[in-house]
Amino acid sequence: MAVIGPREIAAAVRVLGRGDLARYYTAGDSETTKFENELASWMGSANALALNSGTSALICALVGAQIGPGDEVLVPAYTWVSTAAAVISVGAVPILVDVDESLTIDPIDIKARMTDATKAIIPVHMLNLVADMDAIAAIAKEHDLVVIEDACQAIGVTHRGRPTGSIGDIGVFSFNQHKNIRCGEGGALITNNPKYYARAGMYHDVGSYQRSEQFDLDEPAFVGVNSRMPELSAAILRPQVKRLDKQMALRRKRRAMVADRIDELNDPGMRIAMHHDPAGAVGIAIAFDDPDHAARFGETKGARRLVDTGRHVYTNWQSILSKHPQHPRLDPYQWNDRDVSYDDDTCARTLEILARTCTVELAPELPTPAFQLLLKRLG
Ligand SMILES: Cc1ncc(COP(=O)(O)O)c(C=O)c1O
Repeated sequence: MAVIGPREIAAAVRVLGRGDLARYYTAGDSETTKFENELASWMGSANALALNSGTSALICALVGAQIGPGDEVLVPAYTWVSTAAAVISVGAVPILVDVDESLTIDPIDIKARMTDATKAIIPVHMLNLVADMDAIAAIAKEHDLVVIEDACQAIGVTHRGRPTGSIGDIGVFSFNQHKNIRCGEGGALITNNPKYYARAGMYHDVGSYQRSEQFDLDEPAFVGVNSRMPELSAAILRPQVKRLDKQMALRRKRRAMVADRIDELNDPGMRIAMHHDPAGAVGIAIAFDDPDHAARFGETKGARRLVDTGRHVYTNWQSILSKHPQHPRLDPYQWNDRDVSYDDDTCARTLEILARTCTVELAPELPTPAFQLLLKRLG
């Protein structure tokens, strides 16, 4: 199943033919606005805001929830570097939290790392796997924390019947080249909270000069950046949203085939890793007892050992580890009255788990014969 096919090409040609490449010049017939409406509807959310990347979506979400200097935000130690970088971009401090065998943020460790400065949690649904949203929602409610769901790697996935991204206060998505749906570079956020939506909308459009009526905000205008999505990107994404259910069905089927293959191997040293919604699972992680065994498995074409995946592992986040601000007076750590560290011991458990866990490619663009070959190679 191609992710980019004839419908996306026709959509791009339609926009190019019309020549209106940005939302503000489309005289009320904007692809970006239609994409936002269709995304919000698929998610069952009141509002969607189209953006130019997942990183921008995280930043706009944090601005939306008014997270900033002096605040701490809990992020998992296994995620793409952007999750933590976005926190620093708004002047707050990312606090690293271990993942558990599900490869998502561990609710027990969330509690251990919380302080009075904690304002938000960013659970990340890595590799189409889902975080333990019930436990996270309970903690957030008890401690009055904002939950920003990073569903950049999991658009279309559900957690106990609810789309990922629609469960927390704000959900963010990426549409870069590697994501379930894509336009090269792109992103979006969804939220039911009108204030978060209005603040994020204000920020993504340099203070919302172009559509001030859209973002009716009960506070003075503030300056933002330009994170707007181009019309071409929105047009390419629209047919992909329509095919999301079909894509998830294929991923689910492939996951079951990999799980059967692992069963057949009958190897006591490997198993399908814990999942927070096994009935709806569309991503797969395979846990090993022995890291060397995982390393050998990870060399199979189409499989990967997770500790070897570069900047998804916090010990490779050089820009974060350096704690070097873009300007000395913009140092987010100056507001904290404690030492925040990011060394090998900070989340040693995460490193240990990633060293003995692999994933297998289930993506729809992998042709069926190639997937069959991958299944054979696993044993
Ligand atoms: C979990 C996660 N968060 C955030 C991002 C950032 O998205 P983008 O590359 O669109 O800025 C990514 C992208 O790789 C991601 O995987």
